[in-house]
Amino acid sequence: MFPLADRIKLVSESITLAVSAKANAMKKAGVDVVGFGAGEPDFDTPVFIKEAAKVALDKGQTKYTPTPCLPELKQAIAEKFNRDNSLAYTAEQITTGAGGKHCLYMAFMAVLNPGDEVILPSPYWVSYPEQIKLAGGTPKVVRGEEANSFKITPKHLERAIGPRTKAFLINSPSNPSGVAYTPEELEALAEIIAQHPKIVVFSDEIYEKLVYDGLKFVSFATLHPSLLDRTLTFNCHSKSFAMTGWRIGYVGGPKAAIDAMNKLQSQMTSHITSFTQIPAATALQDPKGAESVEQMRRQFEKRGRHMWERLSKLPKITCVRPNGAFYCFPNVSAYFGKAAGGSNITDAITFAAALLEQNHVAVVPGTDSGFDTHVRLSFATSLEQIDKGIDRIEQFLKKLG
Ligand SMILES: Cc1ncc(COP(=O)(O)O)c(C=O)c1O
Repeated sequence: MFPLADRIKLVSESITLAVSAKANAMKKAGVDVVGFGAGEPDFDTPVFIKEAAKVALDKGQTKYTPTPCLPELKQAIAEKFNRDNSLAYTAEQITTGAGGKHCLYMAFMAVLNPGDEVILPSPYWVSYPEQIKLAGGTPKVVRGEEANSFKITPKHLERAIGPRTKAFLINSPSNPSGVAYTPEELEALAEIIAQHPKIVVFSDEIYEKLVYDGLKFVSFATLHPSLLDRTLTFNCHSKSFAMTGWRIGYVGGPKAAIDAMNKLQSQMTSHITSFTQIPAATALQDPKGAESVEQMRRQFEKRGRHMWERLSKLPKITCVRPNGAFYCFPNVSAYFGKAAGGSNITDAITFAAALLEQNHVAVVPGTDSGFDTHVRLSFATSLEQIDKGIDRIEQFLKKLG
């Protein structure tokens, strides 16, 4: 046995990985699997951003840069926060990381002490609890009920606050629920946080551009005058610009927190890849950036409506209508206790495994998101694939009866 550190035991083995590994193996073996599992846009990165990367390479932007990033990118991000989000961050209040994920991890490491609690609404993105635990903190899960569109209420939030509460994490629009809070609902939560001046807020806004049904996106830190100085606002290029593989995330917040994150990063990764930095600034500054995002958003809106309409018509399935991100999160628990093709369905994992095995549709069980009654379907795929996949799910459910 190789002598590993105890902290490795803190991180849970992803139970959903088995399902995605199986889907990949089936695809490799030539099985026509309909994939609703991917958490990334199916579009390619807009051409003007790729061109900017080629120019950066040709200009020799291949050397070390400052830890936060090049000043041009820092400035472009600060301007973006000011312009799009009414967040008055200066360039010194910005840093970048290898995707939104790395920014969040650095922030937990910079903010949490052992025993600190982070209030985490569920269903949640799978990495939050693991990152919180790695940083010595404890996730305090507050359940967002399906009957309330998976949103927590001010009462829920108030009840969860205790002497050990260090931070409140809000992710709207949410992965995996596909639900975004309205500005009024967020304001009501902000009112509660405002009464607890020691609580720090982590606002994960990476799906801000992907909102539907005319919903207005607002940044959490703008909702009460006391919040700007204790909120970290996370964003990235991954979802809005279809740049998941580029690993560009960024965060704005109080200078002391940003400096602490830079201190950590300077001893870890140093900085994000040099020749992605000017292209990342170009994406935020060139009007073509906003145009491409809007084009993709419109497609996602159409697909999301279609997927939700079809899911809602399936027998015994309930599904909250998504108004953000690119996920539907239907409740499949009415089928627990049933069996088909030799598989007993007892939870979201066995449901997903049997659906994949028997009808060749890949979905993500909600188990790692705190909901083992639900599965996540991504609508970042074509309308044809959506129809084909839902037809297959329909056949699968018929077998279960
Ligand atoms: C809610 C949420 N936050 C953060 C991330 C991380 O994004 P990135 O790919 O930029 O690391 C994801 C990715 O799926 C996400 O869904």
